Amino acid sequence: MRTIAVLNQKGGVGKTTSVVNIAAALAASGSRVVVLDFDPQAHLTIHLGLEPQIIESGSYKVLTQSAEFEQQIMLMRPNLWLLPANINLVGAESELVSVVGRETILREAMLQSRDKFDYCLIDCSPSLGLLTLNAMAASDDVLIPLQPHFLALRGFGKLLQTVELVNKRINPNLTVKWVLLCMFDGRASLTNEVKDDIEQFLKNAQGTDCPWSEAHILPVHIRRNIKLAEAPSYGKTIFEYEENCHGAEDYRKVAELIHAQCYPSAPAETLQTVAFDEIQGQPTTPSTASPEPDSQAEQPDTQPAEADENQNQPPIEIKSISPDQQQQGDLDEQPSEFTQTTSENPNI
Ligand SMILES: Nc1ncnc2c1ncn2[C@@H]1O[C@H](COP(=O)(O)OP(=O)(O)OP(=O)(O)O)[C@@H](O)[C@H]1O
Ligand SMILES: [Mg+2]
Repeated sequence: MRTIAVLNQKGGVGKTTSVVNIAAALAASGSRVVVLDFDPQAHLTIHLGLEPQIIESGSYKVLTQSAEFEQQIMLMRPNLWLLPANINLVGAESELVSVVGRETILREAMLQSRDKFDYCLIDCSPSLGLLTLNAMAASDDVLIPLQPHFLALRGFGKLLQTVELVNKRINPNLTVKWVLLCMFDGRASLTNEVKDDIEQFLKNAQGTDCPWSEAHILPVHIRRNIKLAEAPSYGKTIFEYEENCHGAEDYRKVAELIHAQCYPSAPAETLQTVAFDEIQGQPTTPSTASPEPDSQAEQPDTQPAEADENQNQPPIEIKSISPDQQQQGDLDEQPSEFTQTTSENPNI
């Protein structure tokens, strides 16, 4: 399992949106993915269509060691599990203040499950507190979503310092792998200046022994796209909400890039075929996408004729599956209970 902490203490930069849609694309391509809501705002839980009020437990119980990890995760979509959160999580930090080893509770809780998933993506809260430390201690990689505006680099150094500290003291495996530019508008010169600054900064780190020496800006950026902002209120991923929009196209490509780096010997084409045969009983179009660096830079952020422009684009067909369908047990070969935990699920 590759565990990826999606991390930036700055608020509203695209962490949750990235977790939901990268995870959904990976899951639709056949990878077994678990996403962890480590933010008391519970936006990840809500985005996947679940009301935090109805959740009795989730990440809070795992962190307070009152429940097993696998008992608390829920199957939300084919191949996609969620450790949900609710507002209780806000109390976890103070409750754990005197617990020895409190930074590594999540890592230990997930130890038994490492071979059951291909990916674990952790949606961190916009802070560098105990919840985020637990996420970093449990992770292999850090993905930093970043909105390239003039304040973007403020706090970036602090974030990297924290990663370095965790790398030195708690988790020597932890490295920053990717910076993902979100809400990107290639027409704005400031955007490109910020991007150049980050590129230069990361280039300077190459060959050093700091934990971001191999980090790079992903060559696909997430364009500003209104559909991405609308999808959460319907509890849908972008592929369920509007599978041909720019947001879907960008996240699909980002997932392909990440998958190619994490599992270079398991090409996505193979996984896609398996996934769609198994889940939907229909043939798939193998992925042919190979994103060009900066290929999006000249494209406007919102385009009225978006669907038309993209009609030849999508390399992977991702069929919409609504929470309603799930509740009706409408998913082939999947448990019909929307709130089923993996302890009852023979597939995990
Ligand atoms: N590419 C995009 N284009 C337009 N809107 C976007 C895009 N990405 C995210 N958004 C919207 O911007 C807002 C912030 O995004 P998101 O919730 O993913 O950020 P976050 O970093 O998780 O925030 P927080 O720090 O509060 O957890 C949300 O309303 C989301 O729908
Ligand atoms: Mg969030």
